[in-house]
Amino acid sequence: MRFPEIFSALAEEVKARLSGAPGGGHDWDHTCRVMRNAERLLTEEPGADRETVLFAALLHDCARPEEHASRGKVCHARKGAELAAELMKARGLPPEFCAAVAEIIRTHRYRSGARPGTPEGRIVFDADKLDSLGAAGLGRAFLFAGSCGARLHNTKEEAIGGTPYGPEDTAYREYLVKLRHLPQAMQTPAGRRLAEERLGFMAEFFRRLDEEVFPAPAAPEGETCPPKTDRHKKKEIF
Ligand SMILES: [Fe+2]
Ligand SMILES: [Fe+2]
Repeated sequence: MRFPEIFSALAEEVKARLSGAPGGGHDWDHTCRVMRNAERLLTEEPGADRETVLFAALLHDCARPEEHASRGKVCHARKGAELAAELMKARGLPPEFCAAVAEIIRTHRYRSGARPGTPEGRIVFDADKLDSLGAAGLGRAFLFAGSCGARLHNTKEEAIGGTPYGPEDTAYREYLVKLRHLPQAMQTPAGRRLAEERLGFMAEFFRRLDEEVFPAPAAPEGETCPPKTDRHKKKEIF
């Protein structure tokens, strides 16, 4: 079997594992978006090996079901590296190729603190993080917040003071706590540039959401400027 046939067969296996994953943020659709992001980054990082990148992007979240079933005790990056190596070896892929892909998967997780050490790993890391930003990132953040029963929006103080998986764990909280810091973590120049663009869109979205949810009070008759409130001061966080 050649690489394209093995890729298609593995794609079917990963799709079956991830379809129906709860939350919508780490399902098969996410893997497809990450593969498309990786294709885009490959055009700007021509030195990277395309097959290594695409196999790693395909398999990077293959152990999400194990992490979910263990309620977070199993790390999907570490478990995914082992599982992906097994799946690839079973299809007859060369051991050194399997090892390179497994290492990319082991180091793809932002919150683990591990970072990739190869051009291929840097592309997959960035391709994955880009899906947390921009319009797709907003969609994912609201899907996750909805699955926690969180509110549509809250103030900065409520968001920062809230606890994970509760009513204050809004999309805005995810933006404040994690997403707005992602461009600094990007590993490639192209990834950083795209992350900044996508973050700018998110900042504008939350500025607008804030304006709609917490509108400025109307100016009293005879005055031209409405009084300042704490809610307006918080807009400075952007
Ligand atoms: Fe992941
Ligand atoms: Fe992912």
